Amino acid sequence: MPVMTTPIMSESEVRAAVEREMPGVRADLERLVRIPGIAFEGFDHSHVERSAEAVAELLRGCGLDVQIVRSGGQPAVIGRKAAPPGAPTVLLYAHHDVQPVGDLTLWESDPFEPVERDGRLYGRGAADDKAGIMAHVAALRAYGDALPVGVVLFVEGEEEYGSDSLERLLAEHRDEITSDVIVIADSANWDVGVPALTTSLRGIVNCFVQVRTLDHAVHSGMYGGAVPDALTALARLLATLHTDAGDVAVDGLAAREGASVDYPEDRFRAEAGLADGVSLIGTGRITDRLWTKPALAVLGIDAPATGEAPNALVPTAKAKLSVRLAPGDDPKRAYAALRAHLEKHAPWGAQVTLTFEHDGDPCVIDASGPMFDAARSAFRTAWDGTAPVDLGIGGSIPFIATFQEMFPRAAILVTGVEDPHARAHGPNESLHLGEFARVCLAEALLLRNVAVAGVDGR
Ligand code: BES
Ligand code: MN
Repeated sequence: MPVMTTPIMSESEVRAAVEREMPGVRADLERLVRIPGIAFEGFDHSHVERSAEAVAELLRGCGLDVQIVRSGGQPAVIGRKAAPPGAPTVLLYAHHDVQPVGDLTLWESDPFEPVERDGRLYGRGAADDKAGIMAHVAALRAYGDALPVGVVLFVEGEEEYGSDSLERLLAEHRDEITSDVIVIADSANWDVGVPALTTSLRGIVNCFVQVRTLDHAVHSGMYGGAVPDALTALARLLATLHTDAGDVAVDGLAAREGASVDYPEDRFRAEAGLADGVSLIGTGRITDRLWTKPALAVLGIDAPATGEAPNALVPTAKAKLSVRLAPGDDPKRAYAALRAHLEKHAPWGAQVTLTFEHDGDPCVIDASGPMFDAARSAFRTAWDGTAPVDLGIGGSIPFIATFQEMFPRAAILVTGVEDPHARAHGPNESLHLGEFARVCLAEALLLRNVAVAGVDGR
């Protein structure tokens, strides 16, 4: 047993303390949501600076030593509090940047003015991932001076833009962030009322494919019939990316079978918001299609807008592609496989140019051992006896692989605040406030359980 200077708070004390803190946590979450910190190119990054400042202020308020750090990218916030003698140190990760909001007319309320409707708090970042930050803050506030573990808060400022400088940041601050357990609060629970631990995530490769068939636009009546337009050529090329059944048709991408969680098709259709009559694509279990097989989507196309398109053959057209990779796959190999496919299938000899945007590693987490037991027990208590489900996630948190390499002995607990109705990245993103309270309690209990398990519990 570790030597403790202060006794560890009991479960019921922790519960009462978290409840006491929730109103303040909610108010500070709303304050964060009002800051439109978007790390994407072309956005006003002064808001990301402000959002880092706001996070730094919150962490200082928890008695942490705080610094704002950067390494050529957006500002991250590191906050530290030393462990009581003999107790483990826990790294708590979240990100303070958010996705762009897209078409404002699709939002029922201002994305940066948080409002509550039907028990949910609406706003960009209300879930992904400002609630993740506030779950950490809630746990710290609940303990005050009686924090039973050491903590390193690491709140990144460019996760949604690919975390390009994160690897450098981690390397430069390695000594400050070394810890025994890592909690990454940026994932999702299985359902309202059912918690989860994420045990695998997909990787990602994003790129642009441009097709050229002509030097310049020409009259569609004069040349049409003998000259292929680039948009039709692009459409044909994109059509080769899936089989008729909707599986990804690119040779050389990995796929595997995943966790055996039952995801009933009608529940899945409803949560996705699939339009009537539209069939699912792909084959195999739904969870395998989402978590452990590759997926490929066309995210956007540059071509003349329909309202302005003249009667002319389009000389070039460009699409943005996003491939999600199965756990175990390699982004560089996958990109090469995609390139080979696109070059091989170029219709009518069209010139195809591929431009890489960014990629990220998938990961698999072996979720066994005392720290995972500590987490599962905390979740079960916070959800009144409902045990957490082990989940795969189809989304990506590429730097988890970096953490795994840098800190091979640390247990990595991927938790989160999202539920299937959170609509992260879309219009009308929201946080389920009742579930959020459980997430905060679970995190506080988790720190307690980790302290009890001790440094040797890794
Ligand atoms: N929080 C998400 C990851 C996630 C997605 C968790 C779905 C649970 C369910 C994270 O912020 C994210 O969106 N990541 C990006 C990574 C990319 C920019 C490299 C993603 O998956 O698109
Ligand atoms: Mn996120």
